[in-house]
Amino acid sequence: MNNESTELSADSVRRPHDQEPSELYASFMKSGWLPTEREDLAPLEVVTYAYSRRQILSSQFKGVRLLIHAGGLKVRAFDTDYNYRPDSAFAYYSGVQGADSTADAVLVLEPNGDSHLTYLYMNPRSTRDTEAFYRDSRYGELWVGRRFTLKEAKDTYQIDTRHLNELKTLLSDSTKTLTLEDEVLAVFASEQRLCKDEYEIREMQRAVDATALGFCDVISAIPAAIETPRGERVLDAAFYGRARILGNDLGYNTIVGAGSHACVLHWIRNDGDVRRGDLVLIDAGVELESFYTADITRTFPVDGKFSPSQRALYMLVYEAQLAGFAAIKPGALFSDINKASQEVLAKGLADMGVLTVSAEESLRPEVGLHRRWTLHGVSHHLGLDVHDCGKARAENYRDAVLREGMVLTVEPGLYIQPDDELFAPEYRGIGIRIEDDVLVTADGYLNLSENIPRHPDDIEKWMKRILGN
Ligand code: GLY
Ligand code: MN
Ligand code: MN
Repeated sequence: MNNESTELSADSVRRPHDQEPSELYASFMKSGWLPTEREDLAPLEVVTYAYSRRQILSSQFKGVRLLIHAGGLKVRAFDTDYNYRPDSAFAYYSGVQGADSTADAVLVLEPNGDSHLTYLYMNPRSTRDTEAFYRDSRYGELWVGRRFTLKEAKDTYQIDTRHLNELKTLLSDSTKTLTLEDEVLAVFASEQRLCKDEYEIREMQRAVDATALGFCDVISAIPAAIETPRGERVLDAAFYGRARILGNDLGYNTIVGAGSHACVLHWIRNDGDVRRGDLVLIDAGVELESFYTADITRTFPVDGKFSPSQRALYMLVYEAQLAGFAAIKPGALFSDINKASQEVLAKGLADMGVLTVSAEESLRPEVGLHRRWTLHGVSHHLGLDVHDCGKARAENYRDAVLREGMVLTVEPGLYIQPDDELFAPEYRGIGIRIEDDVLVTADGYLNLSENIPRHPDDIEKWMKRILGN
């Protein structure tokens, strides 16, 4: 074989030309373009909400410069990046969304008397008089698409925009500056998100509704999953399709646990077979362009019908979830949700004869034997992050009183490992979780995912409606 013929020419791989452009080529590339500046961009719906959020932040940090970084691209392999997603605090305070979002941007709250002026420092569109638009494979318009000009971004987000190059000059004075590396700012930004504003609540409902459709897609894919080796991937892919079609991405890696894989809490390998007679647990959420995500779990009988032992365990989890819901109202404790669910689970396990102590005894924190099968707490905050408000202090989260506007999951589960000899064989390898997303209202709660069937009879009817058998 002629070696020359196998050599890769500069044009045969999709990477920027290594050689410097000739002067002729460079000037040719700069000319002959029509204007494309957009004058039609309306402010996003989130703008007024993002402004109010910044006002609250500003009032807490008078006289201090605040830098909130969007974060940059992350390499996946060599010259290939992961899909970009900005930091959640940046999204919250800027209102930047989905495909418009700008890698490396920095939101700056600059002290101005008793308040702050806000600037979005960003990498704007590389105009046609630059080389970057055709030579930069990471940011260039001909490689990854067009970004906003400074004016377009300002029109969209209603924030004064500046070129990222100018940030260094701003930072050269001695003004006290905090970034999210500073605990005090990270904690405040996390706690501010504990109660959602109206816009966020609408987005959460939209995320849940998109996720509901994703679960319908998952059911439709069950016959193919049974027929296909590594059928868990078929279900994973079905949900992913919906997340990409209706949203920005998944809110987190989908968990598809068929059979005893459901007993592995963070089973994201999703490379197991899907077998008739087993259950399959799916924990999945669509993240919208606004970056709000749902977090829903449903457990399905692969055959469309629960066996008696599957149904018995399922009903125990179902009752535990009802008890969790009933504990939700303003003024109750966040920890009451877990307590209420765990009481039901512990009593059920005691009634099944698998606990070596009474339910009451097991429920004492220093005993906790039932936790062999319940494994995790039943609630967390949800929003831009699946585990939202993660930096909030214990007194405002784990030990806090519930307040109107909080969005929480209620997600009890039971997991009987396949080698657990304390259970009769027909129960071994069964894992069940039911997870819904609820909003704390003025007098109780609203289950945002109420329309996604939960009761085993309704799950069976839902599957029959979609699969027709
Ligand atoms: N999907 C992660 C969780 O339920 O917390
Ligand atoms: Mn969850
Ligand atoms: Mn979940």
